[in-house]
Amino acid sequence: MALSSLTTRSAAPGREHRTSLIYRSPLAYRLTMAVLYGPYYRARSRAVAELVPPGSSVLELCCGPGTLYLDHLRPKAVRYRGLDLNPVFVDALRRRGVAAEVRDVGAPDPLPPADVVLMQASLYHFLPAVSGVVDRMRAAARDRVIVSEPVRNLASGRGPLARIAARSASPGDRDHPDRFTEASLDALMAGYGDAVLERRTIPGGRDRIHVIRGLAREDL
Ligand SMILES: C[S@@+](CC[C@H](N)C(=O)[O-])C[C@H]1O[C@@H](n2cnc3c(N)ncnc32)[C@H](O)[C@@H]1O
Repeated sequence: MALSSLTTRSAAPGREHRTSLIYRSPLAYRLTMAVLYGPYYRARSRAVAELVPPGSSVLELCCGPGTLYLDHLRPKAVRYRGLDLNPVFVDALRRRGVAAEVRDVGAPDPLPPADVVLMQASLYHFLPAVSGVVDRMRAAARDRVIVSEPVRNLASGRGPLARIAARSASPGDRDHPDRFTEASLDALMAGYGDAVLERRTIPGGRDRIHVIRGLAREDL
């Protein structure tokens, strides 16, 4: 498939911006992830889900098509709520009876409280000012924040897969040329000091997970 057929141009006046077609359908997104990441896509979600205590309330930022909840968290009886900028993903989740809302989580408003506030493969969207979003996640989390982020990125390589991966990073709000490395992600998280409860790399080494103590009061 020609790369150009994977993208569309934004109609916004004065803006030449490409929005990935994979962000126009949950199925297209999941298939693209399966091609790009193979078994590591499930491995990452499984590793994140293992860090979520059964029965907890969970707020997922940048939830995308909700794979984490639908495939891994639902059996743990969590009370789940997903937030994403993309109405296609949010509408599809709502049609399946999943609590989801369209929301720009980069906006400086407080996030809704939950026991666990998490984000997967999306922190790079908020570069360079990422600590603002992590701080707001901590402020909303009664128990813990979980951030899983790619640190070995296909998008920074060469060849057709790398070009598709790079295009797949654009949900349509702006371009996102920057990515984390293990060193830059660990440097960011080191700023949270002893509040970092756990760090681990998922099998295959693509993503790194950090668990940070939440700051919200229990009675919120
Ligand atoms: C690479 S996808 C990851 C989706 C999902 N977390 C996963 O791991 O499959 C990034 C997601 O972030 C969402 N996103 C990007 N910027 C956002 C923002 N400012 N507020 C909310 N969602 C955003 C996109 O719409 C997209 O669904």
